[in-house]
This record gives sequence, structure tokens and C-alpha cells, in this order.
Amino acid sequence: MRARTLTSIAVATGAAAVGYAAVIERNWFALRHQEVPVLPPGTEPLRVLHISDLHLTPGRHRLMAFVRSLGGLEPDLVVNTGDSIASTEAVGPLIDSLGPLLDRPGVFVYGSNDLYSPKPKNPARYLWRTSSGEHTTEEPDLPWEKLGGEMSAAGWLDLNNKRGHLTVNGLDIAFAGVHDPHSARDRYDQVAGPADPAAALRIGVLHAPEPSVLDRFTADGYELILAGHTHGGQLCVPGFGALVTNCGIDRGRVAGLSMNPQVAGPDGKTSWLYVSAGLGTSPWAPARFACRPEATLLTLVPRPAS
Ligand SMILES: [Fe+2]
Repeated sequence: MRARTLTSIAVATGAAAVGYAAVIERNWFALRHQEVPVLPPGTEPLRVLHISDLHLTPGRHRLMAFVRSLGGLEPDLVVNTGDSIASTEAVGPLIDSLGPLLDRPGVFVYGSNDLYSPKPKNPARYLWRTSSGEHTTEEPDLPWEKLGGEMSAAGWLDLNNKRGHLTVNGLDIAFAGVHDPHSARDRYDQVAGPADPAAALRIGVLHAPEPSVLDRFTADGYELILAGHTHGGQLCVPGFGALVTNCGIDRGRVAGLSMNPQVAGPDGKTSWLYVSAGLGTSPWAPARFACRPEATLLTLVPRPAS
């Protein structure tokens, strides 16, 4: 085969892959199901909807329709791990899309992208560096206070460097959360200390799953930690998976359920960690490959009796 023909085939294949990633897979939303054995023995299962990384702009009608459809799940609890908006005009559409989910018990934290407008960048830069610390000196320009105010007004618990409790299906759940470590706004010391031993369940919530923060949740006794941020790698290689995580955790934990730490330390403490691959992308990197956008319905079930 002549070199010119081979070049034409390579260019056509590349264009098809980019088109697929930007048009089809980016809008091919999935609902992932995951069971987590974390409740006290004898407790009824609890259905937790975990959403993350919507990066919503007002034109993303398919994404909004998918989020709206999640209301039909009628989860017991909703957890939003941040990066919800990507535009000054997105709060209204986001709140409208969440719709009936806002009538359910819920908690939220911010991601760095809830504070700062997306800016054009080389989408491949994540291959050699993370986004950590990119916004530590700028003034936020997105309406994060309005975003948080709307979710709080609906009754969702603001966990940005805060602790709190919710009663869900008669179960007392103790929460602690931090603002996003990637914008250097996490203040774990404000929530530090043993998680409430009287609660039926203890959950830690943050955006970017940085190991130093995860380990503090684990040491304080949070049995389940929920995070987002990684986008599951966003552009993955079939058969290999994510190339990068854009934070400190390893590629093997870029999305889905794992233990934190993966091996119990001398005190035997571990937590379940669930990292959402998220529902969106930055408007300046509008493609996903081998990594469908997703929300997760976590079914919390009793631990095996010891
Ligand atoms: Fe994100």
C-alpha cells in the first residue's frame, strides 16, 4: 500500500475517533450500580446517588435531560462531589435539572471548577502535570455562593470544611467534608477528630481524591469516602485504562470502588473509597474516550457479620 494511502487511512481513523469521543461518547451517559458493604448488620439497604463533575453549561441539553431523569430513581440520599458548573449562567439550569433530587436528603462539596471559569488550555497537559494549585491566587469568577445557596436552600448539607448529620431512612449518618484540595481550600483541621461513634454510618466527602486527605478521613473513622475529579481518566486506552488520574491516587483507583489505603495499616483501619468518573468535561476538552460519563447508584448494604 502506498504511503499516501496509509496516511489518508490514519487521518480518517483519527478524525472518526475524535468525532466519536466529542459527539457520541461525551453524550452517552451511563448509570453505574455499585454495592458497598458498609452498614451495621441487620440494617435495611440505603440507595445513594453519587453525581460529580457535571461542568454544566446552559447548552448541554442532553446532559441536563439525563440528570433530570435521575430523579426517577428516588434515591435515599444524593451526594454531589463538585465541579457542577462551567459558566456564570449555569446555576439556574443546574438547579432546574436536579429538580426532584433536591427534594431528597443531600450533601455537597465544591470542586475548583465551581469557582473559576474554564480557560482554553492544551487538553493533553494532564499527561505530564496535574491541575493541582492552578487557582490558588486568583479571585473566583463563577457564582459558587449562589450555587451553594441554592443547594443549601433545598436542604442539602454544605460539607465544605464542615461536619454534619442527616437522618436518612431512620439512620443517623455522620458526614465530614472538605473544600477542594486542588484549589488549596481544603481545611481538614476544621473537621478533624474521631467521626461520631454513635452514628450508624460515617461518610467523608471531597472533590479531588488526594491521598493525604483520604488518609485523614480513614484515620478518623469514616467508613466510606466519596470523591470525583478524575473524570475516570477521560481519554482512556481500551484494554489499558486511564493514562493519568490528575491527582495523587494511582491509575488503578481512577474510578470505582477500592479500599483506602489498599492495605490496612498497623491499626487495621481502612475505608471504602468510591471515585466517580463524573458526567461532564471542561468545555475546552469536550471529549471522552473509553470512559463514558456516568452517575452511580450506590447500594449500601450491611457488613458481613464478623
Ligand atoms: Fe471535573
